[in-house]
Amino acid sequence: MLLAIETSCDETAIALFEGDSLQPSAERIASQIRLHEQYGGVVPELAAREHSVALPLLVQDLFSATGCSAKDIKAVAVTLGPGLQGCLLVGVSFAKAFAQALGIALYPIHHIEGHIAAVLLDPSTTVSFPALALVVSGGHTMLLEVSQWGDYSLRAETRDDAAGEAFDKIASVLGLPYPGGPSLSKVASSVEESRYSFPKGMQKDPLSFSFSGLKTAVARTAQALSVEELKAHTAELAFASEVAIVESLVEKTSYHAREISPKSLILTGGVAANSRLRKRMQELSTALGITLHVPEIRYCTDNAAMIGVVAQLQRARLSTVAWSAKDSLGPYAGFEIGARARWPFEELML
Ligand code: KG4
Ligand code: ZN
Repeated sequence: MLLAIETSCDETAIALFEGDSLQPSAERIASQIRLHEQYGGVVPELAAREHSVALPLLVQDLFSATGCSAKDIKAVAVTLGPGLQGCLLVGVSFAKAFAQALGIALYPIHHIEGHIAAVLLDPSTTVSFPALALVVSGGHTMLLEVSQWGDYSLRAETRDDAAGEAFDKIASVLGLPYPGGPSLSKVASSVEESRYSFPKGMQKDPLSFSFSGLKTAVARTAQALSVEELKAHTAELAFASEVAIVESLVEKTSYHAREISPKSLILTGGVAANSRLRKRMQELSTALGITLHVPEIRYCTDNAAMIGVVAQLQRARLSTVAWSAKDSLGPYAGFEIGARARWPFEELML
């Protein structure tokens, strides 16, 4: 069995995989939304402390519920980065200790690769390559060409804020509750049009996304309104903001799809939970005559199953070496590895 661990932000998550399966046999997740709600955002130090309490408890709970024990685990997969350093350290230290104590393989996984591979958590999914993947989360906005699992090339990325960050910051400007993305999207869905229209950002540069100008434009518009007006116009402001973010994502995806003629599209990361984005990406894939793969909502946001899938794919690719119990190291992990708050995705492609 393989134990997968994810602690890069505010979810403590673990998943168990049996044999070669790409779907987990059991999972546990502890969300910290309530803890961070009062601060209006994730407080890294508190998140790390919470992970260190929750992680061993989740493992204990999973073991007692499934009747499995540490000796059944033959490999550990953990998010090495990118993410919040203190949070990553908790998962990485736990994984290293666990793997070293048992003399088993350790797979250091890139969080973004996890988000992409999350589409495989649906057992009916087979991805046709090359695929064009739009990864949109609280920390990342990237378009990648996926030639094969493990073989990626970057097509476009954000110059400033990530799409999820834009949702969160604009929600906060509009006084909407935390977490911002889902609450902004809920309010936006209460109207069908808006008297406002915001810039899409970096329209002339297909290699870059940009959302910081949008945030400033929404803030300026909101500041010019009275308290009553702002209250009355919140839904329309949210609607126009959501449209600007979504259309910028779809336009650039469409541009790169024309460039590389992919056989499928992948939409993933926390912002892929957004229904307008899902709908517009579906329309794009229909127009292109290709399939759109989107993980189910619980696998769009951070989870451990997506980390386990990447390790399962690597294990399949790299034969049995890393899986062997006598081999205490994973494919490219030594115990000198440490959490990497910054881990450019390009380094994975070398
Ligand atoms: O992937 P994720 O769980 O964590 C990171 O790796 O960042 O993504 C979280 C992000 C947050 O910015 C959150 O506001 C956004 O995803 N998000 C949404 C929606 N649900 C989550 N944004 C827009 N609409 C949603 N429905
Ligand atoms: Zn994520």
